[in-house]
Amino acid sequence: MKNFIFSIPTTAYFGKGQIEILGETIKAHGGSKVLLAYGGGSIKQNGIYKVILEQFRKAGLAHAELSGIQPNPRLESVEEGIEVYRANGCDFILAVGGGSTLDACKAIAAGVKYDGAVTDLFVDESGISSRIVAVAPLATILTMAGTGSELDMGGVITVGDDHKKKVVLHPLLNPKFSILDPEYTYTVPEYHSMAGVADILCHLMEQYFTPEFGANVQDRMNEGVMKAVLEEAPKILANPNDYDARANIMWASSMALAGFQFVLGKPGFPFPLHGMGHELSSMYDMTHGVTLALLTPAWMRHTIGTSTEHLPVFAKFARNVMEVREEDDAKAAEEGIKKLEAFYSAIKMPANLREAGVKEDDLEAMAEKAVENGKLGILSAIGKNEALKIMRMAF
Ligand code: NZQ
Ligand code: ZN
Repeated sequence: MKNFIFSIPTTAYFGKGQIEILGETIKAHGGSKVLLAYGGGSIKQNGIYKVILEQFRKAGLAHAELSGIQPNPRLESVEEGIEVYRANGCDFILAVGGGSTLDACKAIAAGVKYDGAVTDLFVDESGISSRIVAVAPLATILTMAGTGSELDMGGVITVGDDHKKKVVLHPLLNPKFSILDPEYTYTVPEYHSMAGVADILCHLMEQYFTPEFGANVQDRMNEGVMKAVLEEAPKILANPNDYDARANIMWASSMALAGFQFVLGKPGFPFPLHGMGHELSSMYDMTHGVTLALLTPAWMRHTIGTSTEHLPVFAKFARNVMEVREEDDAKAAEEGIKKLEAFYSAIKMPANLREAGVKEDDLEAMAEKAVENGKLGILSAIGKNEALKIMRMAF
């Protein structure tokens, strides 16, 4: 196991009714005028918006608003948020929504403290957003489980005409606190709920399959969370108001990326499935979690095919997570992948890229873009040819 630093600087207020702490906790963090940011309006339909305003009123907090942050949030929303924050003399940011709203607010929090273009703040050669030196205080109210943005230090912003996904990543971007009330996720449509499940599972898998297998504690914790996700997701399909199922999926979302604990003691953080999946979102504005479900089985089969050395970890995944009872490693690994495909099908993910509306002619351009900043890859390196092969296998 490699050396690591572990810290989760975000306080999580988890459970029913935790919204009660909102106003006073913002004040405790020095907030008096809040930029309240949200997406396309779900928080108005399900009543969360009113509860927040009541909290502001009780605590004597003023506020300004940024609305309309879209899924796969655009740089333009970030720029608008920076303007609204400055024009209204805000001193605190409250992001209410899913990963898209939270991520946009992370970029806003850094942008309001930076004099140049916010695009300077994306991850650079150093591996983090090294130009971020200060951020405005940020809190989140999560209304959709999946990305882990509520407890992590990253954000993903869509930029330019080709919709390239760019990352802000810095320890200062961890929210001061996040309110995680599973009841707020009852109204998430089935499609987005299950895309969130696929996202959580992929965050866990990308860390599980990162080599350096001496990290047994991390891997065993990871296996447990993966199994819980597989067990709980179908309960949400059966009953979207199942509190405990929503609670478990919400906590799995937060745990999967909080402090990156499952990848600690392992080298790097390369996330190849995310690298390729982001190109599907760029080209087709496809929902993030869906891109990952589409690519994962193909990536697994491709990786196993590159070296017999990779087989044991896929066989271990099959046995410990997918409950495969097969002694031969190659057969066990394949059975595990088939069971994973059956799970994706049960949570209603599209079966392949074709079914998801992808055009075969676009695969090459997407493969090229996925690796434009260098090879991706855990276990085996993925250049353009490998990315294209994986996309073709997933087609
Ligand atoms: O905009 P509103 O009206 O709120 O509707 C949203 C949106 O249409 C809706 N929704 C959310 N909560 C709801 C609800 N509808 C009804 N009731 C509720 N309670 O769900 C839709 C999708 O929301 P979005 O925020 O886009 O989803 P998600 O949480 O999956 O976020 C996806 C974004 O996060 C990035 C992705 O790349 C993508 O841009 N990621 C961020 C990461 C991070 N910060 O660490 C890591 C991830 O790997 C990921 O890349
Ligand atoms: Zn993700």
